[in-house]
Amino acid sequence: METVDYGTFEATLERSRRLEQALERDPARFLVLTGDRPTGRLHVGHLFGSLENRVRLQRMGVPIFVVIADYQVLTDRECADDIEDSVHQLVVDYVAAGLDPENGRTFIFPHSHVPELNQLLLPFLTLVTNAELSRNPTVKEEIRASGQQQINAAMYTYPVHQAADILFCKATVVPVGKDQLPHLELTRTIARRFNARYGGEKPVFPEPQPLLSDAPSILGLDGSEKMSKSRNNAVMLSFSEDETTACIKTAKTDMDRLITYDTVKRPEVANLLLLLSLCTKKAPEALASEIGDVGASRLKSLLSDALNEYLRPLRQRRRDLETDPQFIHGVLRKGITRAREVAQQTLAEVRQAMGMAYEVDRNHRRPGPGDAVTHVPEAGS
Ligand code: TRP
Repeated sequence: METVDYGTFEATLERSRRLEQALERDPARFLVLTGDRPTGRLHVGHLFGSLENRVRLQRMGVPIFVVIADYQVLTDRECADDIEDSVHQLVVDYVAAGLDPENGRTFIFPHSHVPELNQLLLPFLTLVTNAELSRNPTVKEEIRASGQQQINAAMYTYPVHQAADILFCKATVVPVGKDQLPHLELTRTIARRFNARYGGEKPVFPEPQPLLSDAPSILGLDGSEKMSKSRNNAVMLSFSEDETTACIKTAKTDMDRLITYDTVKRPEVANLLLLLSLCTKKAPEALASEIGDVGASRLKSLLSDALNEYLRPLRQRRRDLETDPQFIHGVLRKGITRAREVAQQTLAEVRQAMGMAYEVDRNHRRPGPGDAVTHVPEAGS
């Protein structure tokens, strides 16, 4: 077997740029699959980092499946507290941010509810080696970050499950951040190996391509690498305006009163300028010189106002959706129904290709409309 090629970042970036152009030319030819683990509400890092990009693709006319990876939550913890609420809130955030499950092209579903997708995991597991799974750099990092002594097997196998999330619908494009690239490379490898082993003339799976967004990554307000609710350094989409202002007041800055945009020497100040720039559509350098030497508190108050204004329509939609749980349930029902139709079709092709689409004994066939009713003797009679 050829080994999984985790590739170079530059080559992927270049391919991704060309893919972006192809998407603009002919959006309906592609199918996008993206997703998240439901670990809590979303924050502005998610909004600027991935949500807005999904909405942009949707508006271009690309069909989109969004998988809520609820089983994946259990890779680094024993139980997913309030998982139902997390899933619900995630859908609220998605729809408030502009994903439109009523357009007939956008489907949102939790993978736990699509048995045929999960079943793809079994044949896929036979296409990778243990060594390949243990080498995955993102998994290694997550094991380190979890601080756990005992690592469950799903931590190593979830990237294969993610391949099922992506391949069940034969997605061709997966928008990703850098940390997800190893998983996508593994998915491509699984698609290739399946086709080579079982595909014969006709490949069953396309090789999905990563779409790296040029969206900036937003640091935590404490200057740490990532915004995250658990680190208490995030502006949540669900915050009120006062909570937003209070939260930004706690942001870490430095002693220099002159505001400059320097991502290397002053990452915390640069991060606030970047957020302000995303809300106002002005360049961060220009914003820095407008602010001048009045200190970081002025920058913070400008940012609170700008963010509150930028998020106002989203937050209004959020509040409306929160009072309408039936609508959110309907979104999931529609997503699950569509995902199952597609997954059943794919699983049938997979079984066919593997020689496992057995002709079942006549008497065990499900009765069709023209069939005579046969008497099945009771056990023991
Ligand atoms: N692993 C992703 C994360 O941790 C979530 C995910 C699950 C996903 N399945 C996916 C992302 C399929 C993209 C495509 O964020």
